[in-house]
Amino acid sequence: MTTQRSAYRASILHSIADPKEVELEQSYQYFEDGVLVVENGHVIDIGPATEVLARHSPSMPVTSYQNKLITSGFIDTHIHYPQTGMIASYGEQLLDWLENYTFPEERRFKNPIYAHKVAKLFLDELASNGTTTALVFGTVHKESIDVFFSEAEKRNLRMIAGKVLMDRNAPDYLTDTPESGYQASKDLIEKWHQRGRLLYAVTPRFAPTSTPEQLATVGKLLEEYPDVYLHTHLSENKKEIEWVLDLFPERDSYLDVYDHYGLLHKRSVFAHGIHLSDCECERLAESESAIAFCPTSNLFLGSGLFKLTKLEEKGVRVGMGTDVGAGTSFSILQTMSEAYKIMQLQQEKLHPFKSLYLATLGGAKALHLEDKIGNLAIGKEADFVVLDLHATQLMRFRMQQTITLEEKLFVLMSLGDDRTVCETYIYGDKAYDANPSLSKHPEKKVVNIA
Ligand code: GUN
Ligand code: ZN
Repeated sequence: MTTQRSAYRASILHSIADPKEVELEQSYQYFEDGVLVVENGHVIDIGPATEVLARHSPSMPVTSYQNKLITSGFIDTHIHYPQTGMIASYGEQLLDWLENYTFPEERRFKNPIYAHKVAKLFLDELASNGTTTALVFGTVHKESIDVFFSEAEKRNLRMIAGKVLMDRNAPDYLTDTPESGYQASKDLIEKWHQRGRLLYAVTPRFAPTSTPEQLATVGKLLEEYPDVYLHTHLSENKKEIEWVLDLFPERDSYLDVYDHYGLLHKRSVFAHGIHLSDCECERLAESESAIAFCPTSNLFLGSGLFKLTKLEEKGVRVGMGTDVGAGTSFSILQTMSEAYKIMQLQQEKLHPFKSLYLATLGGAKALHLEDKIGNLAIGKEADFVVLDLHATQLMRFRMQQTITLEEKLFVLMSLGDDRTVCETYIYGDKAYDANPSLSKHPEKKVVNIA
């Protein structure tokens, strides 16, 4: 980490509140000519350039960007690193997709050399898409998480991840037992949780692949380590829900299965939650659990339309997830574009400032990390991106027709993707540089901080 004080001058936009709680104009800060000052991995100043520069020594190094926008790094609240190699697999809905594509690929992570190769590629992909924090599934193999965390640690990333727990309804080559899964999770928590910026998530895959005995061990781990996360799937697909109710006939609902074993707490994040009853939404809110909205995955697997408004009205915190490899893009910008379309199919709108919130501060709140990340307020960790609103010919042409900031932001979120991300900074250091001269080509130069 660079300890030197450094400044970055560009247009700066960041989310400071949920637009559902304040007037739209109060939900963000925008400095047309702004300066962000960073020291020891943290934001120490932000504001209009003339004011900020006057407060600091003239010898402070300033990197100036022409026609660029700085915003805080994107937060992906649900993604599977081992599914990088089978993204875009054809033709199935959830349960067959798991059987035919996912499990065979996850088998390969028994080999730590393969796992390490994919972890590096995955983290490069997050950086080139401007994602600076993610909540990540590994595989059942303990080593899959060891290699993931060691690579994330080298890059100084704030990452949350966990080994998958599965002791039934999966191929033998991918199952553990209640005892072995418990012990491996415990070892990983002791080794990695709170080490630097890393955090651990206890990760049962979903209710159908864990016995009641295994779910009880998950509850035990959460009791023993109350500040670790719980990360799993919930109510994604109609057949999945029927299966859960068959496997746990004594429980009232899918969520009630998790609730019964003590898995609902303020650091629980459930992916999807598409087909939830009012009671389930209320229980999620009451327990302060969060839901990851994964639009590209929900469309790709034909899972259904996410009820953002209903969940928010019930008081549930929601973050955005790509859910790669069921999701089809690492880009949170593309994810917001698909989220907008999902809302349109329900005759609702998703305002660009709300999208900005969900992609950054809302994700941080879903993870209870808003004191550390999610925007560029003074004191936060300096994870930020430099975006080019004119990254493609089409974007440049379209941007010329825009007048307001919200129009520009909407075009950015509808047309933007990794081509829009010029640089990504992690904890105050440049972790990715697209090199503008190469930006028209698919090859990108990735500089890892080692
Ligand atoms: N439910 C259980 N496992 C998975 C998975 O790997 N991806 C998705 N989208 N849903 C799941
Ligand atoms: Zn998933």
